[in-house]
Amino acid sequence: MARVAVFGLGYVGCVTAACLARDGHTVIGVDVDSAKVARVNAGDPPVSEPGLEELLQKVTRSGALKATTSMPEALAQTDIALVAVGTPSTETGNVNTVAVEQVMQQIGAALADRTGDYTVVVRSTLLPGILEDRLEPALRGALPATARVRVSVCNNPEFLRESTAIRDYDEPPYILVGTTDPPIAERVFDLYSKIPAERLVVGTRSAAMIKYVCNAFHATKVAFANEIGVLAKSLGADGHEVMRLVCRDTKLNISAAYMRPGFAFGGSCLPKDLRALIRHAEEQSLQISLLPGVLSSNETHLRRAVKLVEQSGRRRVGLVGLSFKADTDDLRESPLVMLAEILLGKGYELQIHDPGIELTRLHGRNLAYVDRHLPHLARLLCADPVQLRSHSELLLLGTDVADRLDPQLLSGLPVIDLRRDLGRP
Ligand SMILES: NC(=O)c1ccc[n+]([C@@H]2O[C@H](COP(=O)([O-])OP(=O)(O)OC[C@H]3O[C@@H](n4cnc5c(N)ncnc54)[C@H](O)[C@@H]3O)[C@@H](O)[C@H]2O)c1
Repeated sequence: MARVAVFGLGYVGCVTAACLARDGHTVIGVDVDSAKVARVNAGDPPVSEPGLEELLQKVTRSGALKATTSMPEALAQTDIALVAVGTPSTETGNVNTVAVEQVMQQIGAALADRTGDYTVVVRSTLLPGILEDRLEPALRGALPATARVRVSVCNNPEFLRESTAIRDYDEPPYILVGTTDPPIAERVFDLYSKIPAERLVVGTRSAAMIKYVCNAFHATKVAFANEIGVLAKSLGADGHEVMRLVCRDTKLNISAAYMRPGFAFGGSCLPKDLRALIRHAEEQSLQISLLPGVLSSNETHLRRAVKLVEQSGRRRVGLVGLSFKADTDDLRESPLVMLAEILLGKGYELQIHDPGIELTRLHGRNLAYVDRHLPHLARLLCADPVQLRSHSELLLLGTDVADRLDPQLLSGLPVIDLRRDLGRP
């Protein structure tokens, strides 16, 4: 069992310290607020959380958890520290890192006389880069050059929610450690040996980002459900019933489907149906903003692709894939048709390879859509990928049709994979 220091005795720190002590570790909680420290030592939680009082009383009485305001005292008696101090918003919405930087500096200074290993685990929520560029340098900068201690720094985002914090601590979606050093991850996992959850190790930046993405996703879900509720009410449907059944679909709705960064969405249904809901909201002055934001986000994403092509400086472009996804010849509102139209309008020499499209088989609205947006498609289509390559100074990979090309065809030529590359700077 480990000797653990927990810095910050707020919601996260207090619950974490109490649960670690319950699970057999020897824990010292540290806070700058002496009133909080006194309360923890008296078994009186400084935060209101169901079940915490009983737990705190038990672990303080047994001596498994004690609290102090003295950081050197805590560091002298432990081998691993969890940092859970607050990271509130600044006036401008940035992450306020004052407390967490201060703690890291103090840890560095206090470890001056230690030998052996010491592990610092950041649990506070911080944007990727802060740990690497500010916190770790703050800690190492405060360590005297003569120090003999081997300090490792990693992160371990916390997923608990207030009001169900102990249960969430015991039943996390997974235990995530950000590090490139597997033995460090093992030290952290050992703290949670009583918790039967999947263990995952990723880089520190991904670990930090995942926490933000989870919270952004939760917030988006609330806003989405609220807008659906408003629309449903206006359309005479029961929003609660609607969302209950939407969630019952775990194949396409509550699932990994559609959930990866890639190119813009399109096709014959998504844009059309989104527009119908938005138009209804406008007519009824419902003032929704998430769903219209989705459409404008999609257009912006398309423009990112255009910008990347412009930045490449190449004029002869080969596009792989034209329909909105592979294995369909539906071109209606395909973002690749829109991209092709924009590039042609800007004077690019474009050739397109999409074996799923046979012009003679297009009909109805599909044909009408192409005639309106790419009237000279016959001249642009290139059935032979080798010919596409010899035309191109730059290849754009639009759909999974690209995965069926001979990889040799792609070598030695600048390639923008629209399914993966739009996030790059
Ligand atoms: N509250 C949540 O539900 C929750 C859930 C997951 C993650 N988080 C994240 O965890 C972190 C902590 O959140 P919280 O809600 O527990 O914060 P909190 O504000 O409740 O507690 C932070 C504690 O840190 C103490 N502190 C400040 N400076 C200190 C220092 N130099 N040394 C020691 N202690 C110091 C404060 O006195 C306070 O007790 C934040 O980054 C937050 O975003 C919070």
